[in-house]
Order: sequence, then structure tokens, then C-alpha cells
Amino acid sequence: MRNKIGIFDSGIGGLTTLEEIRKLLPNESYIYYADSKHNPYGEKSDEELYKIVKDIVNKLLEKKVKIIVIACNTATTRCIEKLRNDYPKILFVGTEPAIKVACDNGYNNTIVMATPGTIASERIHDLISKNQRENQNIYLLPCEGLANAIETNDLKRVSKLLHEYLDGYKEKSVDSVVLGCTHYPHIKKKILNILPNVKLIDGNIGVANRVKYLLEKNKLINKSKKTGTLEIINSNNE
Ligand code: DGL
Repeated sequence: MRNKIGIFDSGIGGLTTLEEIRKLLPNESYIYYADSKHNPYGEKSDEELYKIVKDIVNKLLEKKVKIIVIACNTATTRCIEKLRNDYPKILFVGTEPAIKVACDNGYNNTIVMATPGTIASERIHDLISKNQRENQNIYLLPCEGLANAIETNDLKRVSKLLHEYLDGYKEKSVDSVVLGCTHYPHIKKKILNILPNVKLIDGNIGVANRVKYLLEKNKLINKSKKTGTLEIINSNNE
């Protein structure tokens, strides 16, 4: 019987997504697959990334998951369409930069921080053209190396990269920053140290709501009153 929620990312980033989903659905059981071995995803070609992602999907399906959460903006923006074609019966929930949230809330000067892979994706340009209103500026900021510095807990490199990428925005009247990579919520404080007046926006709550909605719609919610289990697998240990 398929009864678990499968979640994956290129390491610790998706743990921020997992946390949000578990808050909403504590009685579900989870398998979190941290693919640290292949981090960073954001600097891989489409073909290379799809092969990696497909292997993980197959592993999660062998473990009888009922839904797969792609807790990674890069893998979502570059692979989700192909995954849905290749696995038409599987429920997938993706994670996308929360550009819609920034635009709907009326922010006028928004930075979208994301991996080079996400920034180069067609999907991000679709999100902008669907949601951006007149007078809203959106600055796309590819943050090469940042997800990997977070993954490897190299705090010196994190600070150096953040200054390199964000210092130039100090004088602009930026009012929001979309955290378009699930690794970035881990460094919220460091971003706010450089840009103290911005609202940080991540898409994790939206992902959690979508998982709940799809499980309810497909009658797949776990009815047990007990707190569910969590299994974490790291590809470095396989
Ligand atoms: N955490 C991922 C994302 O949301 C990917 C980071 C990476 O491996 O480059 O984009």
C-alpha cells in the first residue's frame, strides 16, 4: 500500500519545505531524500539533472510513496513537465519561486534569488509575465555557488557571496526578496543583515497547502491520529 509522502532536494534545502508540510500534516509519514552527492543541481544541464531526478523518483516509488514533493525550485522549473509526462499516474507537487505572492502583495521592487538553472528556466519567465503588474520591477539574481556553500555549511563563503550579490541593491528601494531556492530560507538572517527592510518570501507554505489539497482530493489523507514517521536518506551514504 502506498502510504508515505516522498520529498527530495539536492541536500538540506528541502528540509525547510518538509518542516512546513509536517506542520500542516503531522499524522502523515515521510521519506526525505537528500541528494547531497549531486549538489548543486542549479549548475547542471537539463539532461544531467533529469537523469538524477528520475533515479530519485524511481527510488521513492519503490518505497511506496503516494505523492512526490519536489522540494527544489531548480528540479521543478526544469524537470516537472517531463516527469508528469513520463509518470502520468503519479502525483507530483513542485516548488516554484513565489513571484506570484510578491506581485499579488503589491511589492514594487522584488529581487528573485535563485540558482542559475532556475533563473535560466522558461518557467520563471512565464511566472513573471503572468504576474508582474505595471510599476512592478523584478530583478532576477542568479546566485551561483550559494546553494552549495549552504549545503557544505561554508559560512564564510555564504557571507562573501551574499555581499557580492546583494550589496549593489542596498541603494535601490527593494521591498521584497523571493527566496527562489529551498536552501535560502536557512540563511534568512544573513540576507536581512544586508537588506534589513525587505520582506522575505518563500513558497513553502504554498507547497504544503497544495500537498494537503491533493491528498484530500484523491482521498489519500492518513486518517490515523498518531504522529507519523520520518525517514531521512542521504545519497552520500548509499
Ligand atoms: N534547493 C534547490 C533549489 O530550490 C537546489 C539547489 C542546488 O542544488 O543548486 O533550487
